[in-house]
Amino acid sequence: MKDYKRYLITAALPYANGPVHIGHLAGVYVPADIYVRYLRMRGRDVVFVCGSDEHGVPITIKARQEGVSPQDIVDRYHGINKKAFADFGISFDIYSRTSTKIHAETASGFFKTLYDRGEFAEKVTQQYYDQEAGQFLADRYITGTCPQCGKEGAYGDQCESCGSSLNATELKNPKSMISGSTPVLKDTKHWFLPLDKYEPFLKKWILEENKHWKVNVYGQCKSWIDAGLQPRAVTRDLDWGVDVPVPGAEGKKLYVWFDAPIGYISATKELTPNWEKYWKQQDTRMIHFIGKDNIVFHCIIFPAMLKAEGSYVLPENVPANEFLNLEGDKISTSRNWAVWLHEYLEDFPGKEDVLRYTLCANAPETKDNDFTWKDLQTRNNSELVAILGNFVNRAIVLTHKYYEGEVPARNELTGFDKETLDEIASIKASVENSMESFRLRESLKFAMDLARLGNKYLADTEPWSLQKTDPARVKTIMNISLQITANLSSLVAPFLPVTAKKLEQFLNIETVAWENIGSHDLLPPGHTINKAGLLFEKIEDDAIEKQLEKLRKTKESNAEKEVKVDPQKEAITYDDFMKMDIRIATIMEAEKVPKTDKLLKLTVDTGIDKRTIVSGIAQYFDPEKIIGKQVCVLVNLEPRKLRGIESQGMILMAQDSDGSLKFVSPSDKVNPGSNIS
Ligand code: MF3
Ligand code: ZN
Repeated sequence: MKDYKRYLITAALPYANGPVHIGHLAGVYVPADIYVRYLRMRGRDVVFVCGSDEHGVPITIKARQEGVSPQDIVDRYHGINKKAFADFGISFDIYSRTSTKIHAETASGFFKTLYDRGEFAEKVTQQYYDQEAGQFLADRYITGTCPQCGKEGAYGDQCESCGSSLNATELKNPKSMISGSTPVLKDTKHWFLPLDKYEPFLKKWILEENKHWKVNVYGQCKSWIDAGLQPRAVTRDLDWGVDVPVPGAEGKKLYVWFDAPIGYISATKELTPNWEKYWKQQDTRMIHFIGKDNIVFHCIIFPAMLKAEGSYVLPENVPANEFLNLEGDKISTSRNWAVWLHEYLEDFPGKEDVLRYTLCANAPETKDNDFTWKDLQTRNNSELVAILGNFVNRAIVLTHKYYEGEVPARNELTGFDKETLDEIASIKASVENSMESFRLRESLKFAMDLARLGNKYLADTEPWSLQKTDPARVKTIMNISLQITANLSSLVAPFLPVTAKKLEQFLNIETVAWENIGSHDLLPPGHTINKAGLLFEKIEDDAIEKQLEKLRKTKESNAEKEVKVDPQKEAITYDDFMKMDIRIATIMEAEKVPKTDKLLKLTVDTGIDKRTIVSGIAQYFDPEKIIGKQVCVLVNLEPRKLRGIESQGMILMAQDSDGSLKFVSPSDKVNPGSNIS
């Protein structure tokens, strides 16, 4: 690898349209933070940038749903997420936002540079326009029938029923979600980034020079490239976003995927006047931490933009993760199927490291993984408490018991002692090796091996059974155990920063520098340690049950909401409507039609006459109880025979989502024969 002088670490800018959840954390922020803390401990020059992605359709849709302005939405969620990240200990050097002035200048400046150089193709295309609302429609604002599977409710860019990705113009019966009207196609001019032109560069750069990328990332890039790259529009007809700074683009905004990654640059600018050192010197190692849905933007489109601009570094690696599911189901903000970070922090105060540990130990590095509360409990109780906490506690408690907290000196070492001490450096090497190749779960497992080593050492040497007979030997054992503890305090620090700080406090030491991990003499004899406090506590079943109950409630309320409503039927004329003669009638008699389950024979007073109607409602009504009820009857429906009885009209019923039927009745009593219109 090149000799890199500094690191520029970016974490995907989360949309400020909802709170951050464990899926975001496991895929992006926890791995990025672990890696950055590791780099800092190694003394690297590193900046770690992030912020809220405040533009784009996800924001305007949320605002529309709530009937507030997009600015209200981004202000709310930027605040929530910035605080939650800070409380959780994600150690960004800056958490900015894309609604800042400096970002607008940076993004539009970037566009202008490419524009002036003639990098963009200008094209007039036809796009759906909502004539009632007077605006062009983003793909997400158009719904219709999926041309692939025929389901209603597909979006202009995707059908969520069958997963096909679509063009808005392919939808059948397109409808604007803003006004409900049928949109029309209208000419509009946009600026396109000619990805096809950068294809030779991307081919060489990715397929030949970036073979070290993760297979899931490399593979996705390869299929994009193999499919042939097309010019991509980088402007939109929207009223929320960064203005397009060129003539003829009034009222247009930069496409959110053009402006958002530039947010990494503007955040760095906001952080330090020295930003160009990180962005423009080719010995910077830039790493993008993202989820798999962002791969094409970070590996193809943004690099093409950077290349076209010419003065910036390109990412050296993009260790994208797969997705985390929750209790077997896809995490979804709109279905409220998530564990929200700010809620976790409220429900489990002081347990930041438990979540970090669980998410890292189970990170979706190579495939989608499942988060379960049971797993968090097990990882806490059987790993953090039983392995790490247990070892540290025994080492510290025994030191107080035998030596009033003073570190004893070592005497002669056995072969096992030496092996154990040497193992520290080799565990450290494994942690580093896995970390450098972004295999963080493996790296964490190695770090925990040091605690396992300590436990095994104590179990095998049994200082508690030797203290009476061989106190000199016990001094050696306890010294070694304490050296392991001191090494642990820094080795686990990238993964478990809160725990690391506690360990330092227990041991009464400053942070052990990374380069000193492996040393056998971190604690000099005579050094006094503090009493052990609580490192981890058991998580009981009832805490887990509470969380599961919360999820069950979400499931229930989703099931209620997910009731499908039939789509609207084709339009009819007023005359069509007027042909139907609907009257209020009173039920006079009711009886079951013999030998049927469903049919009731009713005699109704329609005001016009008393007539017989056979109706398939017997499952839902007791004949005696409906006598006297006022109902709506379509009286001019052609009579037809049911089970030999002529039915002279139809009673109008409302069918509920469970299939049950209810009468449609006037809110107050009216005269039979009253018209309905
Ligand atoms: N907001 C996007 C998402 O949540 C990620 C943007 S990453 C950036 O999927 F590069 F554009 F900033
Ligand atoms: Zn479909």
